[in-house]
Amino acid sequence: MKLSTKHLLGIKDLTRDDIQLILSTAEQFKEVLQRPVKKVPSLRDVTIVNLFYENSTRTRMSFELAEKRLSADVLNFAATTSSAAKGETLLDTVNNILSMKVDMVVMRHSASGAPHFLAKHIPAAIVNAGDGINEHPTQALLDAFSMKEKLGKLEGLKVAIIGDIMHSRVALSNMYLLKKMGAEITIAGPPTLIPKYIEQALDVRVEYNLKKALQWCDVANVLRIQLERQNQPLFSSLREYNLVYGINRKLLESLGKEIVIMHPGPINRGVELDSDVADGPFSIILNQVENGVAVRMAVLYLLANEQG
Ligand code: CP
Repeated sequence: MKLSTKHLLGIKDLTRDDIQLILSTAEQFKEVLQRPVKKVPSLRDVTIVNLFYENSTRTRMSFELAEKRLSADVLNFAATTSSAAKGETLLDTVNNILSMKVDMVVMRHSASGAPHFLAKHIPAAIVNAGDGINEHPTQALLDAFSMKEKLGKLEGLKVAIIGDIMHSRVALSNMYLLKKMGAEITIAGPPTLIPKYIEQALDVRVEYNLKKALQWCDVANVLRIQLERQNQPLFSSLREYNLVYGINRKLLESLGKEIVIMHPGPINRGVELDSDVADGPFSIILNQVENGVAVRMAVLYLLANEQG
């Protein structure tokens, strides 16, 4: 089977079959990653550049490891230490890199739509590693993989996405993916961090009461408060946010049921999640990070096959 797309720009563009294919391929790569020798020759003749115009720990390292596990040749680019800092344009930078016979581009950029722009102007396959407040497709895929691994299904699963929905590319990619796969979604958080008309636009429920959202869900995907994207205050203080929307062990114990806790990272400890929850028995946060390598191997492998 093949993907219906040449690039991975967003979950919005994927079909349900594409998502199922990526998740089932990732299962096979997860099995490879349990072996003593964790490397396969699948992308031996492929060269990939990781083009990061914005900071990252998990996504950048996860892509690099996925590429190396697939035996690809890997180039790493960080905008802050490159000629982008001297004013070189995105397109000039990428065309110069591609002239060195690079086949695929993994890109993170603070501008929403930057990978879509590139896809119109260059011949290489592009994987969006997060663009502004638009999408973070591989995060949603690894989140779905982790939910399915933990709870056995996506269809009918009740997922609460909690926190700074307004500025979160993880939230949007998760909503697109979970809707396509038949999960139910509730968005929860303060009204100022939830986009107007999201219920109608994306067919999700909105709940402003955190405890009600937690009582309803099987999985809580808790998002980081993205202060760097808020150019005006949207709540009074981090301390008050924690008091009203922070998740702590006492709150979880008061639900009378067990729910799975997820977070894409990096965590603001003591703001959206207390440490006794982030590191507690219901958290699968580090499983998400582990699964990210297998999921990104699947995406790169399937897109490389599209080119051939
Ligand atoms: N989840 C995520 O995108 O983390 P990084 O910003 O560290 O890549």
